[in-house]
Amino acid sequence: MPLDKVRQMQQQAWQDPQGFWSQAAQTISWMKPVERVLDDSQAPFYRWFPGATLNTCYNAVDRHVEAGFGEQTAIQYVSPVTGSERAVSYGELQQQVATFAGALKGLGIGKGDRVVIYMPMIPETAVAMLACARLGAIHSVVFGGFAPPELASRIDDAQPKLVISASCGIEPSGVIPYKPLLDAALEQSQHQVQGTVIFARPQCQAELKAGRDHDWQALVANAEPAGCVEVAADDPLYILYTSGTTGRPKGVVRDNGGHAVALAWSMKAIYNIDAGDVFWAASDVGWVVGHSYIVYGPLLARATTLLYEGKPVGTPDAGAFWRIIDKFKVKSFFTAPTAIRAIKRVDADASLLQGVDIGSLQALFLAGERCDPDTLNWAAEMLKVPVVDHWWQTETGWSICANPMGIAPLPIKAGSPALAVPGYQVEVLDEEGTPVAPNQSGAISIKLPLPPGTLMTLWNNDDRYRDGYLARYPGYYLTGDAGYMDEEGYLYVMGRVDDIINVAGHRLSTGRFEEVLSHHNAVAEAAVIGINDSLKGQLPLGLVVLKQGMDRDLETIKSELVALVRAEVGAVGAFKLVGVVEKLPKTRSGKILRGTMRKIANGEAVNTPATIEDPQALLVISQALAQMGLNTPEQPVLDLS
Ligand code: COA
Ligand code: AMP
Repeated sequence: MPLDKVRQMQQQAWQDPQGFWSQAAQTISWMKPVERVLDDSQAPFYRWFPGATLNTCYNAVDRHVEAGFGEQTAIQYVSPVTGSERAVSYGELQQQVATFAGALKGLGIGKGDRVVIYMPMIPETAVAMLACARLGAIHSVVFGGFAPPELASRIDDAQPKLVISASCGIEPSGVIPYKPLLDAALEQSQHQVQGTVIFARPQCQAELKAGRDHDWQALVANAEPAGCVEVAADDPLYILYTSGTTGRPKGVVRDNGGHAVALAWSMKAIYNIDAGDVFWAASDVGWVVGHSYIVYGPLLARATTLLYEGKPVGTPDAGAFWRIIDKFKVKSFFTAPTAIRAIKRVDADASLLQGVDIGSLQALFLAGERCDPDTLNWAAEMLKVPVVDHWWQTETGWSICANPMGIAPLPIKAGSPALAVPGYQVEVLDEEGTPVAPNQSGAISIKLPLPPGTLMTLWNNDDRYRDGYLARYPGYYLTGDAGYMDEEGYLYVMGRVDDIINVAGHRLSTGRFEEVLSHHNAVAEAAVIGINDSLKGQLPLGLVVLKQGMDRDLETIKSELVALVRAEVGAVGAFKLVGVVEKLPKTRSGKILRGTMRKIANGEAVNTPATIEDPQALLVISQALAQMGLNTPEQPVLDLS
């Protein structure tokens, strides 16, 4: 029975983590071998494989070349937005990474130095990441859709010596020059970098500032290849910033050893990928999915990773995914539910699948946001393969709950990412921290220690890690998601308990939107909530109270607010909905009732919270939303008694 097999493995991993993970560690080439698996002496801070040493780049690239697989394609780049495709073999990748690492070394980059990478979806982005790993430098990739202030705040936190970027990204809307964005960020940041390296793309020229900016090609032309530097298993490999509940992003720190072991293990256990298989995660390297499953996971497993610079629809059409699966014989494919909804919206009967042979595909994996059963069922019906919803976070780096296709495919229950992956002990807790009964909702939490590959801490901020994740329920990691577990152990993740929203699989902080809105000189107060959207899952909606006596045209103010968020947060925020209201509903202690407003906006029944200061404020919101054409056809049921 598949369920029994997975449960047995869960037990093994929980009861004997040393035995379980030391076996998994054998797939990795260590410089100093693993002797101890877990150091829990500093709990709740844990260290995996203390004392062992390795190099992640060596494991992802060099060892495969040494083993005779230099000719195998490591990265298959497919770029409909530039009309190009390119295969990079493991041998070529090794040569490119070693040379670029040599160039970085020439710029003074070494072990422990931070390097920010702000790049589009091109193979050179993976080369830059791997080159940092090769030198033991810590990379921090920033998603290209973020605006300069977001990049600047990450530069200030990570304090990099260098930023690596490209002349442009390419979106369906056109060429996005990156260099002016980078220049603006460097001007805004307090921290001064020593230099930048810019990869010139033919679509756009970047202006280089003498003495600070270096041209990638010119640097590598004169560089000597650099070797792999030995690092400790618990030395950081990267920092990846993610949205917290405040405007300040959190720098998730990933180690080298635990990360390599967990990702290599997950490639087979979760995705059923063996060496030589073709794996495709249609995400972006700026997100955790891109780190784990465009770059490191597939390369550690010696698979071929497909790196896609395009969209699910419009580049050129909703059949793009299927034709690429056919052409490159993709075995496992990973995308976000939003992408499937986008395809379904324009090609509801999947007519573009006709004449396309997707016989290589064994499973479709979805993550990044809650997967509604309709989307899952549609994909399963059209593609005729198992559709696997799996749940994880930037913090964990790989899936917490999944249907482990390489261990034992479990029966699929739409709406559930299935069982806790071996290594994760998932429990649903009530307010007091007591596990609830099956099918009862609560805070989804993970018993410590988290398995290898999960966050070590937050960059330079152990306190924020402890306070934000570990303090609420001692002995547990708080995921920030709420949900329930059924009798069989299938988890149902229903949404966040905090002010994080998920727009097209992109995690964003409403606190950050509010911070930006309140900087506008007409705004007295602002609240941002996530409202349901049939394509992107959620969309941000801003509700603002204007300063007294403000007699400017409301439409102009609203357009300014939309433009301001785009300039400060970035296009990826998809912030387009603003309502002006007379007042915001608050508790008597002044806390804005965002949850109640969210319910109203989503057309749900609302009882007046007992703590509300002025019940009429709910009516104000309801009317404003109705005027914006929201929460129809079902009007909220407001109980103002
Ligand atoms: N650099 C610069 N701008 C970017 C960008 C990047 N790397 N990525 C996105 N943007 C911009 C887009 O051009 C768009 O700008 P616009 O407002 O000028 O149109 C905006 O950010 C929003 O982008 P996106 O979220 O991609 O939405 P979209 O409306 O352009 O496309 C979908 C809709 C459904 C096709 C798209 O959201 C999608 O592919 N979703 C899949 C989700 C996914 O892969 N998530 C990753 C997590 S697993
Ligand atoms: P991120 O850190 O960007 O990967 O976002 C993580 C958050 O996205 C989680 O905490 C969830 O709220 C949500 N999420 C990711 N995957 C799923 C899923 N399969 N089901 C439900 N929510 C998900």
